Amino acid sequence: MTQTTTTADSPRAIRLEARPDGVGLVTFDVPGASQNTLRPDFGADLARVCDELERNPELRAAVLVSGKPDGFVAGADLDMLKGLTSVDAARQMVEAGHRALDRLAGLAKPVVAAIHGAALGGGFEIALACRARVLSSSKKTVLGFPEVRLGLLPGLNGLQRLAALAGLQVALDHGLTGKNMSPDKARRFGVAADVVPEPILVRVASELALALAEGAALSQPRKSPPPVERLKTLALEKNPLGRRVVFRQARAAVKKSTGGRYPAPGRILDVLETFAKKGFEASRAVEAEAFAELVTGDVSARLVGIFFATTALKKDTGVDDPSVAPREVRKVGVLGAGLMGAGIAYVSIDNGIAVRLKDRDAASVARGLRQVTTLLDERVKKKRLGQGERDQKLALLSGTSDYSGMRQADVVVEAVFEDLALKHRVLAEVEASCREDVIFASNTSSLPIGQIAARARRPENVVGMHYFSPVHKMPLLEVITTERTAPEVVATAVALGKRQGKTVIVVRDGVGFYTSRILGPYMNEAAWLLTEGCSVDGIDRALVAWGWPVGPLTLLDEVGIDVAAHVGPIMVGAFGERMQPPATVQKLVEDGRKGRKNDKGLYLYGAAAKELGRGKHVDATVYGVLGLPVPGRRHKEPYPVEEIQRRCVLQFVNEALHCHGEGVLRSARDGDIGAVFGLGFPPFLGGPFRYADTLGAATLLGQIEALAERHGKRWSPAPLLVEMAKGHRRFYG
Ligand code: NAI
Repeated sequence: MTQTTTTADSPRAIRLEARPDGVGLVTFDVPGASQNTLRPDFGADLARVCDELERNPELRAAVLVSGKPDGFVAGADLDMLKGLTSVDAARQMVEAGHRALDRLAGLAKPVVAAIHGAALGGGFEIALACRARVLSSSKKTVLGFPEVRLGLLPGLNGLQRLAALAGLQVALDHGLTGKNMSPDKARRFGVAADVVPEPILVRVASELALALAEGAALSQPRKSPPPVERLKTLALEKNPLGRRVVFRQARAAVKKSTGGRYPAPGRILDVLETFAKKGFEASRAVEAEAFAELVTGDVSARLVGIFFATTALKKDTGVDDPSVAPREVRKVGVLGAGLMGAGIAYVSIDNGIAVRLKDRDAASVARGLRQVTTLLDERVKKKRLGQGERDQKLALLSGTSDYSGMRQADVVVEAVFEDLALKHRVLAEVEASCREDVIFASNTSSLPIGQIAARARRPENVVGMHYFSPVHKMPLLEVITTERTAPEVVATAVALGKRQGKTVIVVRDGVGFYTSRILGPYMNEAAWLLTEGCSVDGIDRALVAWGWPVGPLTLLDEVGIDVAAHVGPIMVGAFGERMQPPATVQKLVEDGRKGRKNDKGLYLYGAAAKELGRGKHVDATVYGVLGLPVPGRRHKEPYPVEEIQRRCVLQFVNEALHCHGEGVLRSARDGDIGAVFGLGFPPFLGGPFRYADTLGAATLLGQIEALAERHGKRWSPAPLLVEMAKGHRRFYG
């Protein structure tokens, strides 16, 4: 017989069930939610259950489980964290959390966490406060501290408890990267006492809990005195010299990777360093203070904003009409087995979607199939994928050099050469060879979808699906709709993109769509700066210092100078002087410079680069080609670094606002996500629209107008910006 001792009328998030074997089953089950999060009443709930457990003489031990089928605890409720506006209130919340977990950790009766599914952030910290942990061997089971990705740190002593169990290096590694820990790793690190199949998880955890209650020691790599004791002793035990080296190296690495723009990693180091040097109590104070500052700071607010936006996009069908549903997609045809086509095939089969891959001839098909196989094999080699799973995925892929096997395709994505006539030809072939209702999606990077659809017999079935390279790594998919694309077709493309693991934004058709369009004037401005005497590396360094992953001229080499030269006049044709590039790009093309693809661009590649050692080296001959003096050793940029940054960035932001004003975007949210996930706009700034809000519309407008005075018509403020400045409006509330 079991007895539930929940006393309240309303359902509680944590309940205790006294079982006849003397084990209390503590179930975490937030009512009405699909997953467990830590909410404001978490501390009180836990304290009540701890009281009940202590009071009940029948209970000798307890097992903590989740009431959700596939997840343990996902962490703190982000809405709750977002509601914290003062540092004091935040600190108090953290301190209350510390007390709640102290209570759990200090219980005389051992509590064992039985974890199936993700135990993340606060969920991992609760598990760490238990006497021991048993994990299910399911793939869904992972432990981790994702806080750093949201600009936060684990605030419930999880870093210290992990360090105590697994060592400082493991705690640093997981705290700083936010990466997940698999059950196997957890076992090896001494974090999990056991890893067992899910059906026997609670039984094994109960047996362990009872054994611990009888005084048994944990059969895990490290011996375990009571948690708080261990925390104190371990902090003192460690060799101070070794510790200093560990932290010095970690700080240098953090500084290099964050450029000082993300405060959370530094604070994570503060917590662990204080723990190692001064012990658990001292580190808790540092942790509470740091968490309170981070959670109320701007960077975390923007990173959480991005997280919320991606969550919202997961639920968004991509069309405003709620009655529109996507069609089912069982099989995808991909035309062109080149770089992009093979990538699209890979992300499809990897997510269980059958693919028929077509190219012009058997050799090209074979090359594409090889590319997909290589990507899977790399994962097998790294032990991220089993051989059987690899084989199953590959069984979903077949190749062809004609349209055989394409009749079952629900969607055909074309990734053939960037040539309008060719796109028209393959569209006609698809319409002739495939089913009537087949969706034709183009992965063109620059041709307006309307121009491709102009020749379609069924233009309502034509849509753009603009993937980014490399497809398996880049998270964004831009779905492009024409005026004639059927809403159901849009919804199907969006749903397919999500299944392929992408974050999907829907944009209206036009030259450059959204992402390529805003990149245009940004890269142009860098080219203008070059003609005005700035150095190639000086420009790139300035923008990297601003937070971009690479500078605009490095990007030009990557994208291809020939591609930029091709697209430039099209952009000018569509948008006028605002997009006017200097003659630079044309001169470079005339000199045979295409960028990385032919090892000849603004930077050196191949043997010439190797000779000069590590790092990137500008090809100094490029200045002569442009009719510019080679910057000497004492070269001083003609503008301060802030001016270089402002000119490039404001072109980008202004163009994003042009797009939004013209209805290219469905929301500022989509514009921010597109820029961050597609182009590498610095996440800590939240995206161009958040950035505009941070500056304020009036200030932004003032800066653009000042630039227009100096540099002319290339600087024309977006009408939307002018309007917003007048009305003192913001994009986000
Ligand atoms: P690629 O040159 O690597 O591949 C194109 C493939 O299409 C080749 O394998 C070629 O044999 C094949 N092909 C040509 N005619 C064909 C036909 N009639 N039927 C079937 N296959 C045919 O080019 P990539 O880079 O994969 O680009 C493909 C498309 O994706 C282009 O429209 C490009 O603008 C677009 N795109 C490219 C990106 C990139 O970074 N490379 C990014 C986003 C879009």
